[in-house]
Amino acid sequence: MNKMKVLIADKLSEEGMELIKREFEVEVKTGLSEDELVNIIKDYDALIVRSATKVTRRIIENSRLKVIGRAGVGVDNIDVEAATERGILVVNAPCSNTIAACELTLGLMFSLVRNIPQANQSIKEGKWEKNKFLGTELYRKTLGVIGLGRIGREVAIRAKGLGMNVIGYDPYISKTTAAQYKIRMTNFEELLKTSDIITIHTPLTRDTYHLIGYKEFEMMKKGVYIINCARGGIIDEKALYDNLISQKVAGCALDVFEKEPPENNPLLQLPNVIATPHIGASTKEAQKMVSIEIAEEVINALKGEPVRSCVNALTNTFQKEYTI
Ligand code: NAD
Ligand code: MLT
Repeated sequence: MNKMKVLIADKLSEEGMELIKREFEVEVKTGLSEDELVNIIKDYDALIVRSATKVTRRIIENSRLKVIGRAGVGVDNIDVEAATERGILVVNAPCSNTIAACELTLGLMFSLVRNIPQANQSIKEGKWEKNKFLGTELYRKTLGVIGLGRIGREVAIRAKGLGMNVIGYDPYISKTTAAQYKIRMTNFEELLKTSDIITIHTPLTRDTYHLIGYKEFEMMKKGVYIINCARGGIIDEKALYDNLISQKVAGCALDVFEKEPPENNPLLQLPNVIATPHIGASTKEAQKMVSIEIAEEVINALKGEPVRSCVNALTNTFQKEYTI
């Protein structure tokens, strides 16, 4: 009997790939366009992607896939609704990159308030601008965490260790969970009004698209800092740009953008913006764990065994309308 075939369309660490190869035939083809994927997808039973490949309705409808594996958390690059309509399982690897994304958030927070990337650039240009880079301390500042899921919680725990006053907003977690993590929950408006630094850790959904726009910036303290290591599109980039120009927002750190790569994004021209190319999950540890976690899920799905992280049940029409 022919082995089932798995297409890996974005870079995946060896460890997970080896697990799949023990059971199925694996082909790695990265950087494919939508048309190229549409042409070849009929040959495969499973497709594994990270965030670069957009798994559109067209690709899905031209396939005989049984499962789509997302080597990471966010499934906004997959048309989950189209997959669900065709009975295709969508599985992700939600637990493996939590610490990596949390630590990048903290790294960006320090970088932001102490101008570390700008100071590094300056000294490498032969300058000694000691007085230019006057920073702000994190100690006793209020950190507002929007979204207290896996990553938000880890950020909150560590920020408390830095002596920060941490407040959180998440309409979907219970008081018991918040109490367990000793996070003071607040409402959205209060978080916006009282935070010195705001960090976002929600998924990108219909509800969170442009969650932070002109109205929300208006409510914030003058001189607030913003960090987004979650998803582009949660902050309205035009509103962010205008508020950085007016200095209402003192600075922001972005790992994610509405359009990735962010070609000619005016935010990247501003001196008070620091940015990284969606590297929240890019640690050796996380990539190894993600590849194993997604490999196990895809193997189980192909064998008809139970999977842990099926996301089809959570689908809404958001993916179709905003990202694909
Ligand atoms: P999670 O599902 O564990 O947590 C998300 C939390 O957001 C949940 O607790 C949910 O209740 C909350 N939430 C949903 N809608 C909300 C709203 N309107 N307001 C406030 N809270 C809301 O997810 P996670 O693993 O913590 O990941 C968080 C985000 O980080 C996701 O967008 C994910 O894709 C992204 N991520 C990015 C990177 C990266 O490389 N930059 C890496 C990993 C994860
Ligand atoms: C995720 O959602 O897991 C992240 O965006 C990480 C990634 O896939 O690069």
